[in-house]
Amino acid sequence: MSKAKPAPLEPDTKVGGYRILRKLASGGFGVVYLALSPDGQRVAIKEYLPASLVDRAPGEMVPAAHPEKLALYRLGLKSFFEEGRSLAQISHPSVVGVLNFFRENETVYMVMNYLEGSSLQEFVITARELKRKKIFRESTIRSLYDEILQGLRVVHQHKMLHLDIKPANLFITDDDKPILIDFGAAREVLGQQDKRFRPMYTPGFAAPEMYKRDASFGPWTDIYAVGACIYASMTGYPPYEATQRLEKDRLPMQLSKLRGIYSDNLIEIVEWCMSLDPLARPQSVFNLQKELGAENPRRYTQLTLSEKLRMQIDELVHDTKSRVDKAKQATRMGATRFGQLGAGRERAQAGRDKP
Ligand SMILES: Nc1ncnc2c1ncn2[C@@H]1O[C@H](COP(=O)(O)OP(=O)(O)O)[C@@H](O)[C@H]1O
Ligand SMILES: [Mg+2]
Repeated sequence: MSKAKPAPLEPDTKVGGYRILRKLASGGFGVVYLALSPDGQRVAIKEYLPASLVDRAPGEMVPAAHPEKLALYRLGLKSFFEEGRSLAQISHPSVVGVLNFFRENETVYMVMNYLEGSSLQEFVITARELKRKKIFRESTIRSLYDEILQGLRVVHQHKMLHLDIKPANLFITDDDKPILIDFGAAREVLGQQDKRFRPMYTPGFAAPEMYKRDASFGPWTDIYAVGACIYASMTGYPPYEATQRLEKDRLPMQLSKLRGIYSDNLIEIVEWCMSLDPLARPQSVFNLQKELGAENPRRYTQLTLSEKLRMQIDELVHDTKSRVDKAKQATRMGATRFGQLGAGRERAQAGRDKP
């Protein structure tokens, strides 16, 4: 059974001279708050508070580390602090700005620019509900990832890897600027020691080497995730998990369905970034940028009539099969009238599609 999460700081609590306004989000590694700086600016503060290593009762400030996990807690804390310090040296419009970081309450706080907007994940989910063939236009995808890659390149130049690039960690501000957030502070160290820390292995976005104990990570590891994000921006869904791909790789088939909708070049870029062999991927962000930003005339495969028919038949078979499966499921659940069955199906689908 999972235990209760450590309590977040309460509104009006003061930390390092900042006043907490409210909790924005909480994950396995910590809590993000909206707060006010001493000069009245709104900031976002991330508190290191790994849920599986500490407890904190409501109203308390200092987290209590479980005695047997103290060493791991300290290791993570050190790493969170170091990542904060590295990130603070990076100043790029596509990378979330770190304004300050400090120790207090026997933990660490990272103060960031407060961003207003939504994650790319929310955009993708909203767009896919419209059920169009294309999630985003190719020109939108190219300019979005061009901006993200400019930021990622600077991150790599600072000898850092993000290691958790995914649509939920790409923030789109209300004035349309894509920004890389969530620099997996402490993740690399913790992930290797404690198997319960696996948020970085986000299925579909994590490169195959992230599942291996002694693999070496590099820019190509983040590049795999960028390819997976581009894929999700085209189809509305994450790609199959790398471990599944190693058994049976359906990616080429899925990408071939995008031919004629997106240019061959963009499809090939995704395939290149998502090569299972790290050496077969672009080895640096610069390599990838050259291809993504290339002004080559775009080539679209003209599908032959038989290819189009085959795809339509595939879809028909797939749709029929999933309708039959859902009908079977609904019957098991006791729905008897067709009207109810249809309505129930839609609700169930909407529920599943939630992030
Ligand atoms: N600088 C920020 N400004 C506004 N909201 C933020 C900021 N950083 C994080 N958030 C919010 O908090 C959520 C979680 O933050 P994130 O850094 O991704 O941590 P994690 O996913 O590890 O919990 C984000 O999805 C976003 O909604
Ligand atoms: Mg995140």
